[in-house]
Amino acid sequence: MPTPRKIIIDTDPGQDDAVAILLALSSPEEIEVLGITAVAGNVPLPLTQKNARIICELAGRPDVLVYAGCEAPLKRKLVTAEHVHGKTGLDGPVLADPVMQLQPGHAVDFIIETLWREAAGSVTLCPLGPLTNIAAAFLKAPDVVGRVAQIVLMGGAYFEVGNITPTAEFNIYVDPEAADIVFKSGVDLVVMPLDVTHKALTNKARVAAFRALGTKPGRMVAEWTDFFERFDMQKYGSEGAPLHDPCVIAYLIKPELFSGRHINVEIETGSELTLGMTVADWWGVTKRPANALFIGDVDADGFYALLTERIGRL
Ligand code: RIB
Ligand code: CA
Repeated sequence: MPTPRKIIIDTDPGQDDAVAILLALSSPEEIEVLGITAVAGNVPLPLTQKNARIICELAGRPDVLVYAGCEAPLKRKLVTAEHVHGKTGLDGPVLADPVMQLQPGHAVDFIIETLWREAAGSVTLCPLGPLTNIAAAFLKAPDVVGRVAQIVLMGGAYFEVGNITPTAEFNIYVDPEAADIVFKSGVDLVVMPLDVTHKALTNKARVAAFRALGTKPGRMVAEWTDFFERFDMQKYGSEGAPLHDPCVIAYLIKPELFSGRHINVEIETGSELTLGMTVADWWGVTKRPANALFIGDVDADGFYALLTERIGRL
């Protein structure tokens, strides 16, 4: 039995972040969550750090170390997404305030200290929101960059184009300078863009399967998706909403569900018109070196079967 992969989840919950965290915490054979670091994104930091703790308690894991990180992008004003996730960031069901405590200390310091403490090349970073915390850690302690095993992140878009502007996906758009640092860091990078997450759509049967688990986590996931999907269904006329962030965790558990290309991906940080665009050289028309496995496809049925089975364990 292989040893579980050690990860830090960096997150801005967000209903889809919540499902990703539940998937990670229900998969101890494959994943050891060393800690969860909250970042401002979908909603401001006081809410993302609170939501992260609510989700850990829902998973029956009040022992998980949750830290608050950066409350704003490196150089820009925070842009949030209450229009998608609701005022609390976890709209849908009514949730009690968490009892578990937030860890003292800053998330960026936790990331740095963990990368120094754990064996080099043994910790995977899983950013599910804007990349501010990750970039801030790399700026503060450049020597730890080489100790990161891999970064598997949700962000970007190419064929699917943007969701917050015509050219940019939200996580990258909120902090393009941070994304530029991460994409140029030289760390082994796996990117889950909208190109793949928009192929991982909920539908009535998939949400019903969550509800049919008959557990509180199953019911919460169904109610979160019921709320979260209304925005995408209205905008795209799709049958359901993309569960973006769980793609990151599902990749760690069953990478064979996904396919993509190892290509060059760079971040637009200069043009206001296309700010935050992930310029993916999918057709290899430049000589720019490949720096990311850019995922384009997923076995959606396999993805939802994994999600339902694992969340059913909680
Ligand atoms: O664009 C989708 C991404 O932005 C997801 O991670 C969602 O949670 C928001 O953070
Ligand atoms: Ca997110």
